[in-house]
Amino acid sequence: MTEKKTWSDRFEGSLHPAIGEFNASIGFDIELIEYDLTGSVAHATMLGRQGIISIEEADKIVLGLEQIRGEYRSGNFSPGIDEEDVHFAVERRLTQIVGDVGKKLHTARSRNDQVGTDIRLYLRAKIDGIREQLRDFQRVLLQIAESNVETLIPGYTHLQRAQPVSLAHHLLAYFQMSQRDWERLGEIRRRTNISPLGCGALAGTTFPIDRHLSAELLHFEGVYGNSLDGVSDRDFAIEFMNAASLIMVHLSRLSEEMILWSSQEFGFITLTDSCATGSSIMPQKKNPDVPELVRGKTGRVFGHLQGLLTLMKGLPLAYNKDLQEDKEALFDGVKTVQVCIEAMTILLAQGIKFQTGRLHQAVNEDFSNATDVADYLAAKGVPFREAYNLVGKVVKTSLASGKLLKDLSLGEWKELHPAFEEDIYAAIAPERVVSARNSYGGTGFEQVHRAIEEAKVLVQTQS
Ligand code: ARG
Repeated sequence: MTEKKTWSDRFEGSLHPAIGEFNASIGFDIELIEYDLTGSVAHATMLGRQGIISIEEADKIVLGLEQIRGEYRSGNFSPGIDEEDVHFAVERRLTQIVGDVGKKLHTARSRNDQVGTDIRLYLRAKIDGIREQLRDFQRVLLQIAESNVETLIPGYTHLQRAQPVSLAHHLLAYFQMSQRDWERLGEIRRRTNISPLGCGALAGTTFPIDRHLSAELLHFEGVYGNSLDGVSDRDFAIEFMNAASLIMVHLSRLSEEMILWSSQEFGFITLTDSCATGSSIMPQKKNPDVPELVRGKTGRVFGHLQGLLTLMKGLPLAYNKDLQEDKEALFDGVKTVQVCIEAMTILLAQGIKFQTGRLHQAVNEDFSNATDVADYLAAKGVPFREAYNLVGKVVKTSLASGKLLKDLSLGEWKELHPAFEEDIYAAIAPERVVSARNSYGGTGFEQVHRAIEEAKVLVQTQS
């Protein structure tokens, strides 16, 4: 038997090379190496303090592990396929560095609680980074909102012009969505941050370990209370992918709007050269590749969520090798969400320009003030449904004669209903239409200013 053998002396033959490759996870779980080292440092320290190994042995192991970290960071540790996974790769290298004492690291531990520890440490760090990214995204939304409270944009229902709104109000809707994303990730972080270390292979261990100590060293907030659950729970990964999917839903909706807005049909924004691409054949084109890619990448995150749910649904307790399949989904989900938030933040900050002239024209050339005519009459005592029907008629005749509501003479208004006065013109001007919607959470400028102030406080005080 060679020095590299993995298994106990129960095994006589070696793995078929194709099966070795099939079985190996080193090709992707090398991503976990920093967390694996950190977890092992805590485990060795705990073993030393509990007297399960000597303090000197623990110190030697810790030094060896830190040397591997250095080697990895400087590009001098790149284990190959015959190492099977990152856990074996580290243990083998450790034993090369510190000698036989390295073989004591795995006392009172299994790769099952070890890998569970690694992915929780990994995800906890990634969640923190993604929440920071969401804050940056929110800051950019807020900046644009602040300078566009009184910029008006058509508001839609059914993608039909409905009522004009403040552009800031529109953007702040995305602030709210990302605020929920930020909070949701915080809640998931709490459930991710529980230590399975010391659950062993499935049943705990005979050694007098201190699970609370290793958990504390790793800044976990608690420990799993049941070893079977501890080694086989992946709820946190599914919860994360669900949160990631919702982040992608929000980014994808914003992407869709940007794609529409940048079309010639809308013309609400233009794309700057920093975030747009051209066509290889049509020289006039400027394409919104960034929001299109974000919209497109949404599908793979949804796919990972479905994949993880399906991975878990039939697993008997406790660890099963199926669980090795959680990693690529998790890593790709994390990376996809990271690059998409980053790209959308850059796109918002420097990739688009709102075409205020076109927006002004848009809100002034339609019938999106029709509700306000009905409200005008209703405020003067005409029952709303009656007013609504009457305005419907006006819109129909105006459309037929190519007129807008503002083009009707006072005589024409009065003919429709004697309650109309000169002030009808002011009441249906887009600025008034928007500012008058001052109900809590509405698009009225006062409301939007309040919403901006509240959002700023959130961004500054919550972390
Ligand atoms: N590479 C494995 C994984 O990712 C590590 C745990 C292996 N445990 C086992 N009992 N084979 O899940």
